[in-house]
Amino acid sequence: PVLVVDYGAQYAQLIARRVREADAYSEIVPHTLSTEEILAKDPAAIILSGGPSSVYADGAPRVGADLFEQGVPVLGICYGFQAMANAMGGTVAQTGLREYGATETRAEGGARSILNGIPEVQSTWMSHGDSVHSAPEGFETLATTAGAPVAAFANEERRLYGVQWHPEVKHSAHGQRVIENFLDLAGVRRDWSTRGILDEQVSRIREQIGDSRVICGLSGGVDSAVAAALVQRAVGDQLTCVFVDHGLLREGEAEQVERDFVAATGVNLYVANEQERFLSALAGVTDPEQKRKIIGREFIRAFEEAERQIIAQAAAEGETIRFLVQGTLYPDVVESGGGEGAANIKSHHNVGGLPEDLKFELVEPLRALFKDEVRAVGAELGLPPEIVGRQPFPGPGLGIRIVGEVTGERLDLLRKADAIARAELTAAGLDDEVWQMPVVLLADVRSVGVQGDGRTYGHPIVLRPVSSEDAMTADWSRLPFELLARISNRITNEVDGVNRVVLDVTSKPPGTIEWE
Ligand code: XMP
Repeated sequence: PVLVVDYGAQYAQLIARRVREADAYSEIVPHTLSTEEILAKDPAAIILSGGPSSVYADGAPRVGADLFEQGVPVLGICYGFQAMANAMGGTVAQTGLREYGATETRAEGGARSILNGIPEVQSTWMSHGDSVHSAPEGFETLATTAGAPVAAFANEERRLYGVQWHPEVKHSAHGQRVIENFLDLAGVRRDWSTRGILDEQVSRIREQIGDSRVICGLSGGVDSAVAAALVQRAVGDQLTCVFVDHGLLREGEAEQVERDFVAATGVNLYVANEQERFLSALAGVTDPEQKRKIIGREFIRAFEEAERQIIAQAAAEGETIRFLVQGTLYPDVVESGGGEGAANIKSHHNVGGLPEDLKFELVEPLRALFKDEVRAVGAELGLPPEIVGRQPFPGPGLGIRIVGEVTGERLDLLRKADAIARAELTAAGLDDEVWQMPVVLLADVRSVGVQGDGRTYGHPIVLRPVSSEDAMTADWSRLPFELLARISNRITNEVDGVNRVVLDVTSKPPGTIEWE
């Protein structure tokens, strides 16, 4: 693999993704690994990520010079670049001058080496305080900026490279080219493909499960659907999927699972129709955290009941269920510090989270994958685009998009408004521009309106379209006014009880994406 050494900034995952976009397999490792531990992973190349502001800062992670003496090609990025400079005997100066954001960068002596094929003057994304003032011996300066006398360098003979900017962010227009140039110079094989992932996972799953029985839960989301479809492809009828329909999904989503997913995969599906159960458990509850707890608790109970039925059925056939499929993704594994094999149950936000006292062994076919790769594998498996392309949707569903008590009537109303908003967004071709667009019913708020000749006293619907890379931060999407107008007209005309549509123009922070 290409190892991305994580120095603690949020950029390591982005780097790992960009390497995979260049069709090379990458893994993230913590900076606490020793050089021997890193070498034990047999890296084809190493990339040092960005990190804390200064190599001189208290507790800043050290990078031993021995890492650069193993014959493994290394690319240092931002902090990693300065750490390499520092370890190899260059000078890193604390100028107190910061460069932040888009910065003009000029190639020295022509664009070559890792800058090959890139304009000599380019805009790069910077975020640094210290600067490299002189390159270490044997290194050549490749680029400079106003604030950084050495903004990129190379030691071709030893295949050591570094850039001050962040090639992994999209604001660095030629960033991907830098990464690909490095992979080429490092001689890294570019053989990571969706087809390859699929074949490898299918044979791994077969090996793990053998001829045992396995169950999985479907939430309607991308991850559980792709994980289930992979396991189905591997072991066919040994798999039974459970779908707990809690009645908090959006319009058409339960059908997507029960009809389209089943048609595409041929999976054995056990449906638990639990709408009433969730509604009565939520009656009278308005506090968001309370709602989450109740939905989470009922979900686990409903899942366990379904599970007991399936176990009993298997027992009648002389079989036991040994395995449970989880749609854990690579970012979850990295964030929980999990290395190989550590069972990591997604407890994030609790719903879809499963009981702690698991009696099953876990099958986690997506453990090595990023979300975009999961979507690609899903498409390769023939899953419907509505499932594969689905935007993130919270486990507690519409339950936390009704501000106020959740009732059947309010759910119906919100489902209609949401379906209109989604249909119009899709028709405008803007699905890829927005990360997600919660549509929220302010059930506890009423406002006066006028419709026809009459006065109305209805509820507002909030549109909350946001753009984001990872949901940790977000900005409100600048949707075209015509589109907003169309959504507003249609919702107020077609959804009884709604007489106002408002747009949320708050970034995150300070707002969260959801209203509850
Ligand atoms: P916030 O509202 O915290 O949301 O900015 C960040 C992301 O998490 C999703 N979200 C949830 N997902 N259970 C989930 O599975 C939850 O309780 C939950 N709350 C928020 C939200 O949709 C966004 O993508």
